[in-house]
Amino acid sequence: MISSGIVTVSYIAATILFILALGGLSNQETARRGNWYGIVGMAIALFATIFGVVTQHYVILFVALLVGGSVGIVLARRVQMTQMPELVAILHSLVGLAAVTVGFANFMDSSVHFAGVERTIHDIETYLGILIGAVTFSGSIIAFGKLSGRIGGKPMLLPARHFMNLGLLLAAIWFGREFVIQSAAGGGMMPLVIMTVIALLFGIHMVMAIGGADMPVVVSMLNSYSGWAASATGFMLSNDLLIVTGALVGSSGAILSYIMCRAMNRKFINVIAGGFGTGGGSSSAGEAEQEGEIVAIDAQETAALLENAKEVMIIPGYGMAVAQAQHTVYEITKVLRSKGVNVRFGIHPVAGRMPGHMNVLLAEARVPYDIVYEMDEINDDFPNVDVSVVIGANDIVNPSAQEVPDSPIAGMPVLECWKGETTIVLKRSMATGYAGVQNPLFYKENTRMLFGDAKETLDQVLKAL
Ligand code: TAP
Repeated sequence: MISSGIVTVSYIAATILFILALGGLSNQETARRGNWYGIVGMAIALFATIFGVVTQHYVILFVALLVGGSVGIVLARRVQMTQMPELVAILHSLVGLAAVTVGFANFMDSSVHFAGVERTIHDIETYLGILIGAVTFSGSIIAFGKLSGRIGGKPMLLPARHFMNLGLLLAAIWFGREFVIQSAAGGGMMPLVIMTVIALLFGIHMVMAIGGADMPVVVSMLNSYSGWAASATGFMLSNDLLIVTGALVGSSGAILSYIMCRAMNRKFINVIAGGFGTGGGSSSAGEAEQEGEIVAIDAQETAALLENAKEVMIIPGYGMAVAQAQHTVYEITKVLRSKGVNVRFGIHPVAGRMPGHMNVLLAEARVPYDIVYEMDEINDDFPNVDVSVVIGANDIVNPSAQEVPDSPIAGMPVLECWKGETTIVLKRSMATGYAGVQNPLFYKENTRMLFGDAKETLDQVLKAL
Protein backbone atom coordinates (compact mmCIF):
# COMPACT_ATOMS: atom_id res chain seq x y z
CA MET A 1 0.00 0.00 0.00
CA ILE A 2 1.27 3.47 -0.83
CA SER A 3 0.15 6.71 0.83
CA SER A 4 -2.31 9.17 -0.71
CA GLY A 5 0.49 11.75 -0.95
CA ILE A 6 2.51 9.45 -3.19
CA VAL A 7 -0.60 8.72 -5.26
CA THR A 8 -1.08 12.48 -5.83
CA VAL A 9 2.56 12.99 -6.80
CA SER A 10 2.39 9.96 -9.15
CA TYR A 11 -0.76 11.32 -10.77
CA ILE A 12 0.89 14.71 -11.35
CA ALA A 13 3.95 12.98 -12.86
CA ALA A 14 1.70 10.84 -15.09
CA THR A 15 -0.23 13.94 -16.23
CA ILE A 16 2.99 15.74 -17.19
CA LEU A 17 4.18 12.65 -19.08
CA PHE A 18 0.86 12.43 -20.96
CA ILE A 19 1.17 16.08 -22.02
CA LEU A 20 4.77 15.46 -23.17
CA ALA A 21 3.53 12.36 -25.04
CA LEU A 22 0.97 14.40 -26.97
CA GLY A 23 3.64 17.03 -27.76
CA GLY A 24 6.02 14.31 -28.98
CA LEU A 25 3.41 12.61 -31.15
CA SER A 26 2.79 15.82 -33.09
CA ASN A 27 6.06 15.39 -35.03
CA GLN A 28 7.40 12.24 -36.67
CA GLU A 29 10.95 12.82 -35.44
CA THR A 30 9.81 12.94 -31.80
CA ALA A 31 6.93 10.45 -32.10
CA ARG A 32 8.93 7.48 -30.76
CA ARG A 33 9.95 9.49 -27.69
CA GLY A 34 6.35 10.67 -27.30
CA ASN A 35 5.22 7.06 -27.26
CA TRP A 36 7.67 6.25 -24.49
CA TYR A 37 6.47 9.20 -22.39
CA GLY A 38 2.94 7.84 -22.75
CA ILE A 39 3.95 4.29 -21.82
CA VAL A 40 5.90 5.39 -18.72
CA GLY A 41 3.08 7.77 -17.69
CA MET A 42 0.51 4.99 -17.98
CA ALA A 43 2.72 2.55 -16.02
CA ILE A 44 3.07 5.10 -13.18
CA ALA A 45 -0.69 5.78 -13.26
CA LEU A 46 -1.56 2.07 -13.12
CA PHE A 47 0.93 1.37 -10.32
CA ALA A 48 -0.32 4.27 -8.17
CA THR A 49 -3.97 3.30 -8.74
CA ILE A 50 -3.51 -0.40 -8.07
CA PHE A 51 -1.43 0.04 -4.91
CA GLY A 52 -2.70 3.38 -3.65
CA VAL A 53 -6.40 3.59 -4.56
CA VAL A 54 -7.64 -0.01 -4.81
CA THR A 55 -7.95 -1.68 -1.41
CA GLN A 56 -9.50 -5.09 -2.09
CA HIS A 57 -10.39 -7.75 -4.71
CA TYR A 58 -6.79 -7.98 -5.92
CA VAL A 59 -7.25 -11.47 -7.38
CA ILE A 60 -10.08 -10.37 -9.71
CA LEU A 61 -8.09 -7.26 -10.63
CA PHE A 62 -4.94 -9.15 -11.61
CA VAL A 63 -6.86 -11.81 -13.54
CA ALA A 64 -8.62 -9.04 -15.49
CA LEU A 65 -5.30 -7.26 -16.10
CA LEU A 66 -3.75 -10.49 -17.34
CA VAL A 67 -6.62 -11.31 -19.70
CA GLY A 68 -6.96 -7.74 -21.02
CA GLY A 69 -3.20 -7.28 -21.35
CA SER A 70 -2.78 -10.58 -23.24
CA VAL A 71 -5.59 -9.77 -25.67
CA GLY A 72 -4.02 -6.33 -26.24
CA ILE A 73 -0.56 -7.80 -26.96
CA VAL A 74 -1.91 -10.39 -29.41
CA LEU A 75 -4.04 -7.77 -31.22
CA ALA A 76 -1.21 -5.23 -31.47
CA ARG A 77 1.19 -7.87 -32.84
CA ARG A 78 -1.26 -9.11 -35.46
CA VAL A 79 -2.62 -5.82 -36.76
CA GLN A 80 -1.44 -4.63 -40.18
CA MET A 81 -0.54 -0.95 -40.66
CA THR A 82 -3.57 -0.55 -42.96
CA GLN A 83 -5.90 -1.97 -40.26
CA MET A 84 -4.81 0.67 -37.72
CA PRO A 85 -7.95 2.85 -38.03
CA GLU A 86 -10.24 -0.13 -37.35
CA LEU A 87 -8.15 -1.21 -34.34
CA VAL A 88 -8.40 2.33 -32.96
CA ALA A 89 -12.18 2.26 -33.54
CA ILE A 90 -12.66 -0.99 -31.65
CA LEU A 91 -10.45 0.24 -28.78
CA HIS A 92 -12.62 3.37 -28.50
CA SER A 93 -15.67 1.14 -28.20
CA LEU A 94 -14.05 -0.45 -25.12
CA VAL A 95 -13.52 2.96 -23.51
CA GLY A 96 -17.21 3.71 -24.13
CA LEU A 97 -18.27 0.34 -22.70
CA ALA A 98 -16.08 0.92 -19.62
CA ALA A 99 -17.70 4.33 -19.04
CA VAL A 100 -21.19 2.74 -19.25
CA THR A 101 -20.46 -0.20 -16.95
CA VAL A 102 -18.55 1.88 -14.38
CA GLY A 103 -21.44 4.39 -14.41
CA PHE A 104 -24.04 1.72 -13.70
CA ALA A 105 -21.85 0.02 -11.08
CA ASN A 106 -21.33 3.33 -9.32
CA PHE A 107 -25.05 4.13 -9.43
CA MET A 108 -25.95 0.74 -7.92
CA ASP A 109 -23.18 0.86 -5.29
CA SER A 110 -24.99 1.27 -1.97
CA SER A 111 -21.81 2.51 -0.25
CA VAL A 112 -21.80 5.71 -2.36
CA HIS A 113 -23.71 8.38 -0.43
CA PHE A 114 -24.34 11.96 -1.47
CA ALA A 115 -27.00 14.40 -0.33
CA GLY A 116 -28.55 17.66 -1.59
CA VAL A 117 -26.72 19.56 -4.32
CA GLU A 118 -23.80 17.13 -4.21
CA ARG A 119 -26.15 14.29 -5.03
CA THR A 120 -27.60 16.22 -8.00
CA ILE A 121 -24.11 16.99 -9.32
CA HIS A 122 -23.03 13.37 -8.88
CA ASP A 123 -26.17 12.16 -10.68
CA ILE A 124 -25.51 14.50 -13.62
CA GLU A 125 -21.91 13.24 -13.82
CA THR A 126 -23.14 9.64 -13.82
CA TYR A 127 -25.79 10.37 -16.44
CA LEU A 128 -23.37 12.21 -18.76
CA GLY A 129 -20.66 9.54 -18.41
CA ILE A 130 -23.11 6.78 -19.38
CA LEU A 131 -24.66 8.88 -22.17
CA ILE A 132 -21.37 9.76 -23.89
CA GLY A 133 -20.00 6.27 -23.19
CA ALA A 134 -22.99 4.56 -24.85
CA VAL A 135 -22.80 6.81 -27.96
CA THR A 136 -19.05 6.12 -28.18
CA PHE A 137 -19.56 2.37 -27.72
CA SER A 138 -22.19 1.77 -30.41
CA GLY A 139 -20.76 4.43 -32.80
CA SER A 140 -17.28 2.89 -32.59
CA ILE A 141 -18.59 -0.62 -33.23
CA ILE A 142 -20.30 0.62 -36.42
CA ALA A 143 -17.14 2.54 -37.41
CA PHE A 144 -15.13 -0.66 -36.89
CA GLY A 145 -17.64 -2.58 -39.03
CA LYS A 146 -17.41 -0.03 -41.84
CA LEU A 147 -13.61 0.25 -41.78
CA SER A 148 -13.12 -3.52 -41.77
CA GLY A 149 -15.63 -4.01 -44.59
CA ARG A 150 -18.07 -5.99 -42.43
CA ILE A 151 -20.68 -3.24 -42.97
CA GLY A 152 -21.05 -1.49 -46.36
CA GLY A 153 -19.40 1.92 -46.70
CA LYS A 154 -22.47 3.60 -48.22
CA PRO A 155 -24.14 6.15 -45.92
CA MET A 156 -27.54 5.05 -44.63
CA LEU A 157 -29.73 8.10 -45.13
CA LEU A 158 -33.10 7.66 -43.43
CA PRO A 159 -35.82 10.20 -44.31
CA ALA A 160 -36.07 12.99 -41.72
CA ARG A 161 -32.91 11.72 -40.05
CA HIS A 162 -31.99 15.14 -38.63
CA PHE A 163 -35.39 15.35 -36.91
CA MET A 164 -34.90 11.84 -35.60
CA ASN A 165 -31.53 12.82 -34.11
CA LEU A 166 -33.06 15.95 -32.61
CA GLY A 167 -35.88 13.83 -31.13
CA LEU A 168 -33.37 11.41 -29.57
CA LEU A 169 -31.41 14.32 -28.10
CA LEU A 170 -34.52 15.92 -26.58
CA ALA A 171 -35.58 12.55 -25.18
CA ALA A 172 -32.14 12.09 -23.59
CA ILE A 173 -32.45 15.53 -21.93
CA TRP A 174 -35.96 14.78 -20.67
CA PHE A 175 -34.95 11.40 -19.22
CA GLY A 176 -31.95 13.13 -17.61
CA ARG A 177 -34.32 15.40 -15.70
CA GLU A 178 -36.45 12.37 -14.71
CA PHE A 179 -33.35 10.52 -13.58
CA VAL A 180 -32.14 13.32 -11.29
CA ILE A 181 -35.63 13.70 -9.74
CA GLN A 182 -36.20 9.97 -9.24
CA SER A 183 -32.66 9.34 -8.01
CA ALA A 184 -33.17 11.90 -5.20
CA ALA A 185 -36.18 9.80 -4.11
CA GLY A 186 -34.15 6.55 -4.14
CA GLY A 187 -35.03 5.34 -7.69
CA GLY A 188 -33.85 6.37 -11.16
CA MET A 189 -32.87 3.06 -12.75
CA MET A 190 -35.64 3.14 -15.35
CA PRO A 191 -34.80 6.53 -16.98
CA LEU A 192 -31.10 5.60 -16.86
CA VAL A 193 -31.70 2.36 -18.78
CA ILE A 194 -34.02 4.05 -21.30
CA MET A 195 -31.45 6.81 -21.92
CA THR A 196 -28.71 4.18 -22.44
CA VAL A 197 -30.81 2.50 -25.13
CA ILE A 198 -31.48 5.89 -26.76
CA ALA A 199 -27.76 6.75 -26.70
CA LEU A 200 -26.85 3.37 -28.22
CA LEU A 201 -29.37 3.93 -31.04
CA PHE A 202 -28.08 7.47 -31.57
CA GLY A 203 -24.47 6.21 -31.90
CA ILE A 204 -25.51 3.58 -34.46
CA HIS A 205 -27.63 6.01 -36.46
CA MET A 206 -25.01 8.78 -36.43
CA VAL A 207 -22.18 6.62 -37.81
CA MET A 208 -24.38 4.63 -40.23
CA ALA A 209 -25.22 7.94 -41.97
CA ILE A 210 -21.56 8.70 -42.72
CA GLY A 211 -19.87 7.54 -45.93
CA GLY A 212 -16.91 5.14 -45.78
CA ALA A 213 -14.33 7.69 -46.89
CA ASP A 214 -15.27 10.13 -44.12
CA MET A 215 -14.58 7.50 -41.47
CA PRO A 216 -11.16 8.94 -40.44
CA VAL A 217 -12.86 12.15 -39.25
CA VAL A 218 -15.48 10.07 -37.45
CA VAL A 219 -12.84 7.91 -35.76
CA SER A 220 -11.02 10.97 -34.46
CA MET A 221 -14.36 12.41 -33.31
CA LEU A 222 -15.19 9.17 -31.47
CA ASN A 223 -11.70 9.36 -29.98
CA SER A 224 -12.69 12.75 -28.62
CA TYR A 225 -16.00 11.37 -27.27
CA SER A 226 -14.21 8.50 -25.52
CA GLY A 227 -12.02 11.10 -23.77
CA TRP A 228 -15.01 13.12 -22.57
CA ALA A 229 -16.73 9.91 -21.39
CA ALA A 230 -13.61 9.04 -19.37
CA SER A 231 -13.47 12.57 -18.00
CA ALA A 232 -17.12 12.45 -16.85
CA THR A 233 -16.37 9.08 -15.21
CA GLY A 234 -13.39 10.73 -13.50
CA PHE A 235 -15.70 13.38 -11.99
CA MET A 236 -18.11 10.65 -10.89
CA LEU A 237 -15.33 8.66 -9.18
CA SER A 238 -13.54 11.80 -7.93
CA ASN A 239 -10.39 10.61 -9.70
CA ASP A 240 -8.28 13.60 -10.77
CA LEU A 241 -6.06 11.66 -13.16
CA LEU A 242 -9.03 10.26 -15.07
CA ILE A 243 -10.49 13.77 -15.36
CA VAL A 244 -7.25 15.21 -16.75
CA THR A 245 -6.44 12.26 -19.04
CA GLY A 246 -9.99 12.20 -20.38
CA ALA A 247 -9.85 15.94 -21.06
CA LEU A 248 -6.50 15.57 -22.87
CA VAL A 249 -7.89 12.79 -25.09
CA GLY A 250 -11.17 14.66 -25.59
CA SER A 251 -9.57 17.94 -26.62
CA SER A 252 -6.79 16.45 -28.76
CA GLY A 253 -9.36 14.32 -30.63
CA ALA A 254 -11.53 17.39 -31.20
CA ILE A 255 -8.54 19.43 -32.46
CA LEU A 256 -7.51 16.61 -34.82
CA SER A 257 -11.04 16.36 -36.22
CA TYR A 258 -11.05 20.12 -36.77
CA ILE A 259 -7.63 20.08 -38.50
CA MET A 260 -8.73 17.26 -40.81
CA CYS A 261 -11.96 18.99 -41.73
CA ARG A 262 -10.16 22.28 -42.40
CA ALA A 263 -7.55 20.56 -44.62
CA MET A 264 -10.40 18.93 -46.60
CA ASN A 265 -12.30 22.22 -46.68
CA ARG A 266 -15.33 20.50 -45.16
CA LYS A 267 -17.46 21.84 -42.35
CA PHE A 268 -17.28 19.54 -39.33
CA ILE A 269 -21.04 19.69 -39.00
CA ASN A 270 -21.44 18.48 -42.65
CA VAL A 271 -19.26 15.45 -42.00
CA ILE A 272 -21.22 14.56 -38.89
CA ALA A 273 -24.57 15.21 -40.60
CA GLY A 274 -23.44 12.57 -43.09
CA GLY A 275 -24.33 11.75 -46.66
CA PHE A 276 -21.00 12.61 -48.26
CA GLY A 277 -17.98 10.49 -49.07
CA THR A 278 -19.31 7.23 -50.37
CA GLY A 279 -15.72 6.25 -51.01
CA GLY A 280 -13.81 5.22 -54.09
CA GLY A 281 -14.28 7.91 -56.70
CA SER A 282 -15.65 7.40 -60.17
CA SER A 283 -14.91 8.54 -63.65
CA SER A 284 -18.47 9.64 -64.30
CA ALA A 285 -18.59 12.35 -61.65
CA GLY A 286 -17.84 15.96 -62.56
CA GLU A 287 -17.89 15.51 -66.33
CA ALA A 288 -17.27 19.17 -67.22
CA GLU A 289 -15.53 19.62 -70.57
CA GLN A 290 -11.76 20.00 -70.05
CA GLU A 291 -9.56 22.21 -72.22
CA GLY A 292 -6.23 20.89 -73.41
CA GLU A 293 -4.82 17.52 -74.34
CA ILE A 294 -3.68 14.51 -72.40
CA VAL A 295 -0.05 13.65 -73.10
CA ALA A 296 1.03 10.17 -72.06
CA ILE A 297 4.63 9.27 -71.30
CA ASP A 298 6.43 5.97 -70.70
CA ALA A 299 8.84 4.77 -68.00
CA GLN A 300 11.97 5.37 -70.15
CA GLU A 301 11.01 8.99 -70.81
CA THR A 302 10.15 9.48 -67.14
CA ALA A 303 13.57 8.17 -66.10
CA ALA A 304 15.27 10.50 -68.58
CA LEU A 305 13.34 13.54 -67.31
CA LEU A 306 14.20 12.67 -63.70
CA GLU A 307 17.89 12.12 -64.42
CA ASN A 308 18.23 15.46 -66.13
CA ALA A 309 16.46 17.39 -63.37
CA LYS A 310 18.12 19.30 -60.54
CA GLU A 311 15.07 19.65 -58.30
CA VAL A 312 12.52 16.83 -58.01
CA MET A 313 9.41 16.93 -55.81
CA ILE A 314 7.57 13.69 -55.09
CA ILE A 315 3.89 14.06 -54.14
CA PRO A 316 2.43 10.82 -52.79
CA GLY A 317 -1.31 10.19 -52.44
CA TYR A 318 -3.82 7.49 -51.73
CA GLY A 319 -2.82 5.52 -54.88
CA MET A 320 0.73 5.05 -53.53
CA ALA A 321 -0.78 3.37 -50.47
CA VAL A 322 -3.04 1.20 -52.67
CA ALA A 323 -0.12 0.16 -54.88
CA GLN A 324 2.27 -0.20 -51.89
CA ALA A 325 4.84 1.62 -53.98
CA GLN A 326 6.67 3.39 -51.14
CA HIS A 327 9.73 1.09 -51.15
CA THR A 328 10.28 1.52 -54.91
CA VAL A 329 9.82 5.28 -54.48
CA TYR A 330 12.66 5.32 -51.98
CA GLU A 331 14.88 3.16 -54.22
CA ILE A 332 14.36 5.70 -57.02
CA THR A 333 15.06 8.55 -54.58
CA LYS A 334 18.39 6.96 -53.58
CA VAL A 335 19.47 6.49 -57.21
CA LEU A 336 18.57 10.09 -58.09
CA ARG A 337 20.31 11.49 -55.02
CA SER A 338 23.44 9.52 -55.89
CA LYS A 339 23.34 11.29 -59.28
CA GLY A 340 23.23 14.69 -57.57
CA VAL A 341 19.47 15.36 -57.99
CA ASN A 342 17.84 17.11 -55.01
CA VAL A 343 14.78 14.99 -54.23
CA ARG A 344 12.16 16.18 -51.75
CA PHE A 345 8.72 14.93 -50.73
CA GLY A 346 5.69 17.24 -50.41
CA ILE A 347 2.97 15.95 -48.10
CA HIS A 348 -0.57 17.27 -48.12
CA PRO A 349 -2.26 17.12 -44.67
CA VAL A 350 -5.09 14.88 -45.96
CA ALA A 351 -3.19 12.86 -48.57
CA GLY A 352 -4.42 9.27 -48.31
CA ARG A 353 -7.25 8.24 -46.05
CA MET A 354 -6.04 8.82 -42.48
CA PRO A 355 -3.98 11.48 -40.68
CA GLY A 356 -0.26 10.92 -41.29
CA HIS A 357 -0.98 8.13 -43.83
CA MET A 358 1.85 9.16 -46.17
CA ASN A 359 4.31 9.88 -43.37
CA VAL A 360 3.77 6.39 -41.96
CA LEU A 361 4.32 4.75 -45.38
CA LEU A 362 7.45 6.80 -46.08
CA ALA A 363 8.82 6.09 -42.59
CA GLU A 364 8.17 2.38 -43.20
CA ALA A 365 10.27 2.61 -46.39
CA ARG A 366 12.96 4.45 -44.33
CA VAL A 367 12.80 7.73 -46.28
CA PRO A 368 14.83 10.24 -44.19
CA TYR A 369 12.60 12.75 -42.34
CA ASP A 370 14.67 15.75 -43.43
CA ILE A 371 13.59 15.44 -47.09
CA VAL A 372 9.88 15.11 -46.21
CA TYR A 373 8.11 18.49 -46.13
CA GLU A 374 4.65 19.62 -45.09
CA MET A 375 2.58 21.41 -47.74
CA ASP A 376 2.97 24.83 -46.11
CA GLU A 377 6.75 24.48 -46.04
CA ILE A 378 7.23 23.79 -49.77
CA ASN A 379 4.24 25.17 -51.65
CA ASP A 380 6.05 28.39 -52.56
CA ASP A 381 9.01 26.40 -53.97
CA PHE A 382 7.24 24.85 -56.97
CA PRO A 383 8.41 27.53 -59.49
CA ASN A 384 11.97 26.25 -58.78
CA VAL A 385 11.06 22.56 -59.22
CA ASP A 386 12.09 20.86 -62.49
CA VAL A 387 9.99 17.70 -62.18
CA SER A 388 7.10 16.96 -59.78
CA VAL A 389 6.12 13.29 -59.59
CA VAL A 390 2.52 12.85 -58.45
CA ILE A 391 2.11 9.24 -57.31
CA GLY A 392 -1.52 8.13 -57.02
CA ALA A 393 -2.66 11.57 -55.85
CA ASN A 394 -5.52 13.51 -57.35
CA ASP A 395 -7.64 15.90 -55.23
CA ILE A 396 -4.62 17.25 -53.34
CA VAL A 397 -3.08 18.54 -56.61
CA ASN A 398 -6.30 19.75 -58.25
CA PRO A 399 -6.05 23.41 -59.43
CA SER A 400 -9.85 23.75 -59.56
CA ALA A 401 -9.76 24.10 -55.77
CA GLN A 402 -8.34 27.57 -56.52
CA GLU A 403 -9.84 28.29 -59.93
CA VAL A 404 -13.44 26.96 -59.90
CA PRO A 405 -15.51 28.69 -57.21
CA ASP A 406 -18.40 26.18 -57.32
CA SER A 407 -16.17 23.09 -57.29
CA PRO A 408 -16.88 20.70 -54.37
CA ILE A 409 -13.24 21.18 -53.31
CA ALA A 410 -13.18 24.98 -53.78
CA GLY A 411 -11.05 26.57 -51.08
CA MET A 412 -9.24 23.34 -50.16
CA PRO A 413 -5.50 24.09 -49.98
CA VAL A 414 -3.63 22.14 -52.69
CA LEU A 415 -0.02 21.43 -53.69
CA GLU A 416 0.65 23.81 -56.61
CA CYS A 417 2.82 21.45 -58.68
CA TRP A 418 1.65 22.92 -62.02
CA LYS A 419 3.82 25.98 -61.23
CA GLY A 420 6.95 23.83 -61.74
CA GLU A 421 8.53 23.03 -65.10
CA THR A 422 7.05 19.54 -65.64
CA THR A 423 4.59 17.41 -63.70
CA ILE A 424 4.40 13.64 -64.17
CA VAL A 425 1.19 12.05 -62.86
CA LEU A 426 1.13 8.32 -62.11
CA LYS A 427 -2.31 6.72 -62.06
CA ARG A 428 -4.16 3.87 -63.74
CA SER A 429 -6.87 5.77 -65.64
CA MET A 430 -8.58 9.15 -65.93
CA ALA A 431 -10.86 8.30 -62.97
CA THR A 432 -11.49 11.00 -60.38
CA GLY A 433 -10.21 10.87 -56.80
CA TYR A 434 -12.10 10.71 -53.52
CA ALA A 435 -14.01 13.99 -54.06
CA GLY A 436 -15.29 12.77 -57.47
CA VAL A 437 -14.18 15.88 -59.42
CA GLN A 438 -12.25 16.13 -62.69
CA ASN A 439 -8.70 17.38 -62.45
CA PRO A 440 -7.57 20.07 -65.00
CA LEU A 441 -3.95 19.37 -63.99
CA PHE A 442 -3.98 16.29 -66.26
CA TYR A 443 -4.75 18.50 -69.28
CA LYS A 444 -2.11 21.17 -68.68
CA GLU A 445 0.64 21.71 -71.25
CA ASN A 446 3.44 20.87 -68.84
CA THR A 447 1.78 17.69 -67.47
CA ARG A 448 2.65 14.16 -68.58
CA MET A 449 0.58 11.11 -67.64
CA LEU A 450 2.29 7.81 -66.78
CA PHE A 451 -0.58 5.32 -66.80
CA GLY A 452 -0.53 2.03 -64.87
CA ASP A 453 -0.35 0.65 -61.36
CA ALA A 454 2.10 2.92 -59.50
CA LYS A 455 4.22 0.02 -58.20
CA GLU A 456 4.56 -1.56 -61.64
CA THR A 457 5.37 1.69 -63.48
CA LEU A 458 7.83 2.80 -60.79
CA ASP A 459 9.59 -0.57 -60.97
CA GLN A 460 10.08 0.09 -64.70
CA VAL A 461 11.34 3.63 -64.01
CA LEU A 462 13.82 2.25 -61.46
CA LYS A 463 15.05 -0.30 -63.98
CA ALA A 464 15.46 2.40 -66.64
CA LEU A 465 17.42 4.57 -64.18
P1 TAP B 1 -7.48 10.75 -54.20
O1 TAP B 1 -7.90 12.12 -54.57
O2 TAP B 1 -8.47 9.79 -53.70
O3 TAP B 1 -6.77 10.14 -55.52
C1 TAP B 1 -6.12 8.93 -55.49
C2 TAP B 1 -5.78 8.56 -56.92
O4 TAP B 1 -4.95 7.40 -56.84
C3 TAP B 1 -6.98 8.18 -57.74
O5 TAP B 1 -7.31 9.19 -58.65
C4 TAP B 1 -6.59 6.86 -58.44
O6 TAP B 1 -6.69 7.03 -59.83
C5 TAP B 1 -5.14 6.68 -58.04
N1 TAP B 1 -4.81 5.28 -57.74
C6 TAP B 1 -5.51 4.39 -57.02
N2 TAP B 1 -4.90 3.20 -57.00
C7 TAP B 1 -3.77 3.35 -57.72
C8 TAP B 1 -2.71 2.46 -58.07
N3 TAP B 1 -2.68 1.20 -57.66
N4 TAP B 1 -1.71 2.95 -58.82
C9 TAP B 1 -1.72 4.22 -59.26
N5 TAP B 1 -2.69 5.11 -58.96
C10 TAP B 1 -3.70 4.67 -58.19
O7 TAP B 1 -6.27 10.76 -53.15
P2 TAP B 1 -5.38 11.97 -52.59
O8 TAP B 1 -4.90 12.82 -53.70
O9 TAP B 1 -4.39 11.33 -51.67
O10 TAP B 1 -6.40 12.83 -51.76
C11 TAP B 1 -6.97 12.35 -50.57
C12 TAP B 1 -8.46 12.54 -50.62
O11 TAP B 1 -9.06 11.79 -49.54
C13 TAP B 1 -8.87 13.98 -50.43
O12 TAP B 1 -10.01 14.29 -51.18
C14 TAP B 1 -9.19 14.03 -48.94
O13 TAP B 1 -10.08 15.07 -48.62
C15 TAP B 1 -9.81 12.67 -48.74
N6 TAP B 1 -9.76 12.21 -47.33
C16 TAP B 1 -8.59 12.21 -46.67
C17 TAP B 1 -8.56 11.86 -45.33
C18 TAP B 1 -7.26 11.91 -44.57
S1 TAP B 1 -7.26 12.18 -43.02
N7 TAP B 1 -6.13 11.73 -45.21
C19 TAP B 1 -9.72 11.45 -44.70
C20 TAP B 1 -10.92 11.40 -45.43
C21 TAP B 1 -10.92 11.79 -46.77
P3 TAP B 1 -6.90 5.75 -60.78
O14 TAP B 1 -8.12 5.05 -60.29
O15 TAP B 1 -7.03 6.31 -62.15
O16 TAP B 1 -5.67 4.90 -60.65
